[in-house]
Amino acid sequence: MSQQASTPAPEPVRHAATTRDHVRRLHEVRRRATVGDELATERQHAKGKLTARQRLQHLLDEGSFTEFDLFRRPAPGSPVPEYCTDGVVTGAGTVHGRRVFAYAQDFRILGGSLGEAHAAKIHKVMDLAIAAGAPLVALLDSGGARIQEGVTALAGYGGIFRRNVRASGVIPQISVVLGPCAGGAAYSPALTDFTFLVRNVSHMFVTGPDVIKTVTGESVTHEELGGAEVHAATSGVATFVADDEETCLEDVRHLISLLPSNSHDLPPSYETDDPPARRCPRLADIVPANPKVPYDVREVIAEIVDDAEFMEVHEHWAENIVCALARMGGRTVGILANQPVVRAGVLDIDTSQKAARFVQMCDAFSIPLVTFVDVPGFLPGVDQEHDGIIRHGAKLLYAYCNATVPRIQVILRKAYGGAYIAMDSRSIGADLSFAWPINEIAVMGAEAAVGVIYRKELAAAGDPEQRRTQLITEYTEELMHPYYASERGLVDDVIDPADTRVMIIRALELLSDKRPDLMPRKHGNPPT
Ligand code: HXC
Repeated sequence: MSQQASTPAPEPVRHAATTRDHVRRLHEVRRRATVGDELATERQHAKGKLTARQRLQHLLDEGSFTEFDLFRRPAPGSPVPEYCTDGVVTGAGTVHGRRVFAYAQDFRILGGSLGEAHAAKIHKVMDLAIAAGAPLVALLDSGGARIQEGVTALAGYGGIFRRNVRASGVIPQISVVLGPCAGGAAYSPALTDFTFLVRNVSHMFVTGPDVIKTVTGESVTHEELGGAEVHAATSGVATFVADDEETCLEDVRHLISLLPSNSHDLPPSYETDDPPARRCPRLADIVPANPKVPYDVREVIAEIVDDAEFMEVHEHWAENIVCALARMGGRTVGILANQPVVRAGVLDIDTSQKAARFVQMCDAFSIPLVTFVDVPGFLPGVDQEHDGIIRHGAKLLYAYCNATVPRIQVILRKAYGGAYIAMDSRSIGADLSFAWPINEIAVMGAEAAVGVIYRKELAAAGDPEQRRTQLITEYTEELMHPYYASERGLVDDVIDPADTRVMIIRALELLSDKRPDLMPRKHGNPPT
């Protein structure tokens, strides 16, 4: 399909050329190498896609890009045409004035496939990002391992995976899939912190539709198998999705503004016009006292954070928990909140995995955790048990117990059983815990509790229903309120909901110099 020949070799330099001749030639060579083939550019645009350089322009501050290895080509004698760049543009620039390293695969050149030189360029920019302590953004659009280069192409991916893992928790790594990302190549985004996909543009799968048809007989389109919608809502592979590339790259810029450059730095803080002392009286209208009446916890979050702005991760997957990055008092916070409008906010396998990964990411990048609790428990069911809710729920416990950033728990309403403990209770290491006065902290809800502990008495009662109602009332009045937990030191204060924002910002300030107290070890052995 390609109409391109290799990038032509520069004209030889005349023996008597002046310095200005050399400079003119440099500009010409550079121009030819960067512009690329017009037909290939048209084909890229016809698919609704930007080119690699256009993507970098959208990602980085204007005029800030410094390119590396523009003239890098495959070694002489390579089985493929020798294009400058070898199909990937690499370099560094700034985003909102802060240093960022990036690479963008150029699908116009050999389908953005990864050969030896292409991989070596990516390895170099990854090594530089780690050395400089700056985020790395990968703009991916590639047919995968370059078939003609065989095992060296495969080894190139190995080198990327190794660096992804070396950089994990050291610098933020962001993958942006803007075309195909197939086979083993899909594992690089999975090893990074965030994966962005664009509807009708991105496709990710380990084995494509043709192989699936041959092996299992199933018929499926690229979009149905590995499009943005599927990875956003079903597989949980996509952390964020966007409708178009420009919006996606704007979202990447916003995400970077919320993150530190590396694990030694704190996330940048910003001046805010939203007063830290702002009270939130509307919260009392948003959350009904009856624990069975649902409400959208995103309204609670919007009310409390600066300027009602927050960036939800995995917005369409495991929606019964909301995980979001926001700012409070100008500082980045990671928010976790049970979502009563989706499956009553219950914890299950997917929510445990989503929340555990989010806690882990926040902890790695010094982002304090604020957890809003309104949880009926872990989801009962044979499927959940057989699919490993014990293993997966343990991931959430492990992530919280391991986290050394400031941790604040706010119990909005009900908090039952193991799910209460897992949602960053004081007992697993929250630094401060606040409860609203409508609160019910208990092993289980009153009806279930009465059914268990008064089973014999109810069976013998003359009017079991009347006795049941009486016992439920007594149990609720005695135990289902926050003052009992507060008397036992498990809640640090019972607060007016209107003061929630003020209290959290004050607590974040008090804990801002918290230092981790870690025991020496090689690394933990988290549940998988
Ligand atoms: C070499 C490749 C290539 C590849 C595409 N091209 N993939 N060249 N190696 N892996 C070339 C095509 O030959 C074509 O060149 C140009 O890129 C554009 O490709 P088209 O097929 O015309 O584009 P399109 O119709 O958009 O289809 C894109 C595609 C398809 C879906 C990606 O090209 C495809 O299925 N490619 C093969 C994918 C694959 O199986 N890759 C290996 C995955 S395994 P011309 O010269 O005609 O313009 C893997 C292992 C990683 O990656 C292991 C890590 C451990």
